Amino acid sequence: MSTPGLLAPLGDIPSDKFRRQLYELADWIGEYRAKICNRAIAPSVEAGAILRALPTHPPETAEPFESIWNDFERIVLPGIVHWGHPQFMGYFGSTTTGPGILAEMIAAALNVNAMTWRTSPAATELETVVLRWLREWLGLPEIFEGVVYDTASISTLHALAAAREQAAPTVRESGLSGRDLPTFRLYTSDQAHSSVEKAAITLGVGEQNVRRVPSDSAFRMDMSGLKLFVEEDLRRGFKPLAVVATVGTTSSASVDPVAAIARFCRAHGIWLHIDAAYGGGLALLPEAAWIRQGWAEADSFVINPHKMLFVPFDFSALYVRDISRLRRVFALVPDYLSGDSARAAIDYMDYGVQLGRRFRAIKAWFVWRSFGREGIASRIREHLRLAKLFAQWLEKDGRFEILAPVMMGVVCFRPAGYSEEGCRALVDALNDNGETYLTLTRLHGVVAVRLGLGNVLTTEEHVHNVWEIVRKAIR
Ligand SMILES: Cc1ncc(COP(=O)(O)O)c(C=O)c1O
Repeated sequence: MSTPGLLAPLGDIPSDKFRRQLYELADWIGEYRAKICNRAIAPSVEAGAILRALPTHPPETAEPFESIWNDFERIVLPGIVHWGHPQFMGYFGSTTTGPGILAEMIAAALNVNAMTWRTSPAATELETVVLRWLREWLGLPEIFEGVVYDTASISTLHALAAAREQAAPTVRESGLSGRDLPTFRLYTSDQAHSSVEKAAITLGVGEQNVRRVPSDSAFRMDMSGLKLFVEEDLRRGFKPLAVVATVGTTSSASVDPVAAIARFCRAHGIWLHIDAAYGGGLALLPEAAWIRQGWAEADSFVINPHKMLFVPFDFSALYVRDISRLRRVFALVPDYLSGDSARAAIDYMDYGVQLGRRFRAIKAWFVWRSFGREGIASRIREHLRLAKLFAQWLEKDGRFEILAPVMMGVVCFRPAGYSEEGCRALVDALNDNGETYLTLTRLHGVVAVRLGLGNVLTTEEHVHNVWEIVRKAIR
């Protein structure tokens, strides 16, 4: 408790002090990035240890920056997984970059809310600019307009909300319960991301109404399976709502036959949502133009530039063909915002559930200008080369099975003869030594060790180090 009569100073911390702290932090971040290689990637902490080391009760009085910093270095940092480490090869290589870090600092300093154009015109217009740049890189027609959210799960949720609005326009007003509505069905492959089920749960479609279409031997949605499911559902009186096709599946980065799926959706009047959260970035490579087949026919399209396009987490872009279909679901202006809205063509609060919105566009703007399309494409191309090289080493060694075609920066493999438990133990042992970080997945029932590349700092030397670690760890 503070002594009565002795008031704590008000306002922010003094600006000269803040400036000193900023310089110190700048040095620390610079050093952290430069020497990240020397750190153990994953911490060796027991669950609950960090919780126990931190005070249970909130601070009653002000604490000096030095003691907060000490606790950060002593307790928090040792519990961090260093995703930015060039030998972190888990999940998708979500990476930060110098310009991305700088832009995040600017966004924190400005701390604007990009809910309407009026609440920060530049935040809205910069968002429109980076969305248009990205649309051009993706080769999507101008009929597609976008919005930035945090994650692909949220993008897909909004896309499917627009699909539901189109299929049942009265739901916005009257809701779902107690109504005589058809049972909606969603279709996606058995390799698709679980965000489709999350959307079905949230939208009242129901998890059991997501039909998982079998995938072929290369983990792509099987067209005959899709047709079979839809025809069967139509006969039984269900209403097909949307097909979610994936470009770059989570497990193996496989690519669904989007062009054929698009033709099928058009013929049946079914909404097509493309989940290109990871794989969409490949479109920046002229030699990968094949990947864009069918995209122009979609109703909605999601890409996470924080997965392949070097924008730091989080940043997801949703594009909708005729964006008014999205606005129809979500535009709603409360009285207290009526003076601020509709001053310009775009108020991004009308494009989704959330009102308050971070100024995410600035980091994409900084990163993409710093690297240019050419620089981004070269880095992606190098990651593809490294993934293929790793697969060649596996092949040459002769003791490994490669479990999926290497389409992007992902390699799925297992040591021949290893059981599920064997693979689990292998990955635990590899990750425990702090020099690499791999994950597991399951492909048609078979457990696979999975390596994901995409970190801007990863070089051939790092990939080779990981190969040596893997090679020496197997029996
Ligand atoms: C293909 C695909 N779609 C969607 C998602 C969900 O992404 P987010 O974490 O941005 O919600 C992922 C996650 O890795 C993914 O791989």
